[in-house]
Amino acid sequence: MGIFYDESNRLFFIETPNTTMCLAVVDDEGFLNNAYYGAKAGRDDLTYLLGGKDNPAVPSRNDRDRGCYFDKARLEFPSGGTGDYRSPAVCVRDAQGHDSSLFTYVSYRIYDGKDEIHTPAGEGRTVRMPATFAGESSAQTLEIELDEKVLGLKAFLSYSVFEDSDAILKSVRMVNVSDNTVIIDKLLSSNLDIDLAAFGNHEPDIVTLSGSWARERRMDRRRISRGTTEVYSTRGESSHQFQPFSALCEQGTDDSGGKVYAQTLIWSGNFVCGAGMDQFETVRSYIGISPEHFTWDLKPGETFQTPEAVLVFTEDGFDGMSHIFHDLFRGHLIRSPYLYKDRPVLINNWEATYFNFNTDKLLDIAREAKKCGIEMLVMDDGWFGKRDDDNSSLGDWFVNEKKLPGGIGRLSDELEKMGMKFGIWFEPEMISPDSDLYRAHPDWAISSPGRIPTRIRNQYVLDITRSEVRDYVYECVAGILRSAKISYVKWDMNRQLADLGSTGLDAASMGRLSYLYTLGVYDLQERLLAEFPDLLLENCSGGGARYDAGMLFFSPQIWCSDDTDAYERLTIQAGTEMIYPLSTMGAHVSASPNHISGRVMPFDVRGAVALSGTFGYELDITMIPGDERESIPEQVEIYHSIGSIVREGDYYRIARVSDMELYDAWMSVTKDKERALLTYVQCKGSPQNNKRTIRLKGLDPDMKYSLKLIGSDDENSRFCSRGKKDAWKVLAPDGPVSGRSLMNAGLMIPVIWGEYGQVMIELTSEA
Ligand code: GLA
Repeated sequence: MGIFYDESNRLFFIETPNTTMCLAVVDDEGFLNNAYYGAKAGRDDLTYLLGGKDNPAVPSRNDRDRGCYFDKARLEFPSGGTGDYRSPAVCVRDAQGHDSSLFTYVSYRIYDGKDEIHTPAGEGRTVRMPATFAGESSAQTLEIELDEKVLGLKAFLSYSVFEDSDAILKSVRMVNVSDNTVIIDKLLSSNLDIDLAAFGNHEPDIVTLSGSWARERRMDRRRISRGTTEVYSTRGESSHQFQPFSALCEQGTDDSGGKVYAQTLIWSGNFVCGAGMDQFETVRSYIGISPEHFTWDLKPGETFQTPEAVLVFTEDGFDGMSHIFHDLFRGHLIRSPYLYKDRPVLINNWEATYFNFNTDKLLDIAREAKKCGIEMLVMDDGWFGKRDDDNSSLGDWFVNEKKLPGGIGRLSDELEKMGMKFGIWFEPEMISPDSDLYRAHPDWAISSPGRIPTRIRNQYVLDITRSEVRDYVYECVAGILRSAKISYVKWDMNRQLADLGSTGLDAASMGRLSYLYTLGVYDLQERLLAEFPDLLLENCSGGGARYDAGMLFFSPQIWCSDDTDAYERLTIQAGTEMIYPLSTMGAHVSASPNHISGRVMPFDVRGAVALSGTFGYELDITMIPGDERESIPEQVEIYHSIGSIVREGDYYRIARVSDMELYDAWMSVTKDKERALLTYVQCKGSPQNNKRTIRLKGLDPDMKYSLKLIGSDDENSRFCSRGKKDAWKVLAPDGPVSGRSLMNAGLMIPVIWGEYGQVMIELTSEA
């Protein structure tokens, strides 16, 4: 790992353990180009890849075709309006409206470590942006200074690498050194121009994750051709609809192998992410804040900072890509003390009661849960104001004494006596039109003058870009936390931004609103964690609409989706796990038939699927069938015994039900390969004389493993052809078996009686 500057050839080599990015300063004017990014290359003079040192196309040799040069070069920081007609990374405008710009090389700085990113957030203060940090590894950073001579702007492009990661972290800081205000209309975090040779000179595929409420992060794959494929959010959050993520890959790339160029953004607001191919078959891939609903009036002396982009290259397919993201986020992004800890198994009352609960009901649930080994009760929406449905009271964060006589203090005391921890739900950024808060401060809602604000779930969004609103919100949450013994907060956000307008911003700065809103969320959560460092924070947004790397800087877990149907969850979780570590994924067992889909599923299958995330329950434990309740203690015990494999291990995808409707399967393997967990979920029944062999992944070929069936009774006839009790035993050797056999020859899985079934196998190496 390291960053090197080859002065004679004016080349920067940004190296990770297995990759190289080579940037070149080209021509006398200093155009910054990307000569190469991919598998490790030598520190050779790679300028030939850009047409050589005597490149006849550069402006100093062929100024009459200057525009043609820009339109063809692999530009690292392409700007708009000077001849590159592809999608630019930066668009800026002077006070007279001229919008062409050209940024050229000035200087560089290489330093050990990686600086924190603090960004101006209005009202003269700065906010720490979520960004990666060196952690226990070492880091190096390259900062390249470019300038725009006509407008008087400086752009500092930052590249950081870590000793233990194949990711490159990029961000851009723009400084106005002129005497005039300059308008930024677009400033992306990363642009990457890639030679088609990277994809074997065939058009690459692009994988994105798309969805909707209750259908988050489904894998979409299509071919890139001339033109652009783009995903985005203009909703003020990363969104249910698209992830700030794309993976360009060679045709034929799958989970196990193939070249992948992936990117994501450490940001929780509006974004754009895409790739396109130009007339010369160069692929341009980019990611950053969406230019829609965004302008920034950069005044003299001011700075604007983009969020950090994560770039990943691997030749090891999507599994390899996931390993890089997971390790990066665990080792260099998630700060929570709970990251590697066993999280308390929780029971949340949302699907159990919705708004219809009181202290007695919660205590009944808690009492029964405690008997089953569950460790924490989470009280969800409906405990405050007069909120008996979702039409009122957001903003009125005082307890509803009719439901909770004696308040939260009494409830938390009772829970403590029982030996249960207590968690609570908030939706701090919101305001109901029917609330005391709105009646007192209608101007605190984001809105546009003269326009009736758009309601979504009958609520508005608070203008947390204003300090008095932020302070009110903070005190509401912190006040409750100070008043009782609360171990956990579920921080929800159930609508998107619209009618963008803030009374705190003047006309020229109104385009800052969406960006400042996201900083407002970060500011609030940072303050909360500073005052309550032991708090376990789980982010949530109508399920998983704010599941992004930005939020992971604050919370070690995020609610994955409101869809708790285990079958549906297979696809949602498979998409989530492509980027995010399993330790971050809120996954709960819920009642059957499922509250969203009506699907009926065996309890053990619901358990197996939830056990690959941060585990809990979302059901009325007093009402479920007795045999299900009796299975809970064992599930809780399994969570605690295999939890560290899932949290800390490498994740391997074996089969996706979205590809082949029969089954889904995945593994977690500890870094030392001593322990592993295989989860297999059958999604379609078939005649019992039909068996399935699956091949394991990630094991040490030379280790011998003993296999233990967990989460189901091996005497259970559901596993056995016509009830033969020893059916399981014929499928794998009794004694230890080598990783080599398990990976190359595989394991025979029985067909399970009925439609759905699960097999969980814990593998332990024999010393
Ligand atoms: C969102 C969350 C749910 C629940 C409800 C409460 O939809 O994702 O888990 O908390 O809000 O209104």
